[in-house]
Amino acid sequence: MELSKEFEQKFRSAKSVCVLTGAGVSAESGVPTFRGGGDTTAVWKGMPFDQISSARMVSENLAEVWEWFDYRRGVLSKCTPNPAHETLAKWEQDFSEFTLVTQNVDGLHARAGSKNVIEVHGNINRSRCLGCGVRFDMDVGSVPHTPVKCNECSGNLRPDVVLFGEMLPAGVFEEAVEKAAVCELFFVIGTSALVYPAASLPEIAKRNGAYVVEVNPEKTPLSELCDESFRGRAGEILQEITRVF
Ligand code: APR
Repeated sequence: MELSKEFEQKFRSAKSVCVLTGAGVSAESGVPTFRGGGDTTAVWKGMPFDQISSARMVSENLAEVWEWFDYRRGVLSKCTPNPAHETLAKWEQDFSEFTLVTQNVDGLHARAGSKNVIEVHGNINRSRCLGCGVRFDMDVGSVPHTPVKCNECSGNLRPDVVLFGEMLPAGVFEEAVEKAAVCELFFVIGTSALVYPAASLPEIAKRNGAYVVEVNPEKTPLSELCDESFRGRAGEILQEITRVF
């Protein structure tokens, strides 16, 4: 894999680095992506995933939503972090200012050792009370989910994941925007860049002068904006970059 002189210079000199990841970064761990590359799980019991994973479904049929999420939690519990997750956890140590923003709810970045992860779409191993808003961490693979009711107010619990038709949790995205706006080097890894506002982060970084690098086997709507695109699998490419330095 050829690394341009400009990329080498940026990677060597960068003090502040920000990374946005999507489902593609977990594809090599066996986690199905939603749209491109890897196998997709578009349908659950005849419903498209953006119907079963919707705020409307939580109000109409919470039990069905939990069955779908417990199924996904079961699949994910058998998955382990891959070299892409591990490399990003290492980069967190190497760069003085390093921020990892993920759209993934699988928790694999944290399981790989990343500490400073902004989960803009929530986490599948956490639930939230519909009544009082208290959050509960669930052990990876603890299917079916527990607790079933809120220990504080006995309210119903829902997955602490951003569902279709919902806003991102307050403050979380704003923190990601702040980091994207001041970084010198921005990586966008394994995302189809179709879902906003997450897909706006590379644009914000670019507008503020960052060098933007895409890692994806396929072209995306962001490719034109990027200063450099590495076409291939994240696990291999990130290891290759680290090997060079
Ligand atoms: N390495 C890097 N990229 C990969 C790999 C890989 N091994 N395998 C697939 N990809 C790329 C695909 O080419 C595609 O561009 O990962 C991208 C996955 O795109 P999506 O499935 O659309 O996932 P993502 O962009 O994360 O979706 C955003 O949409 O469904 C919602 O909330 C969900 O967070 C998700 C959001």
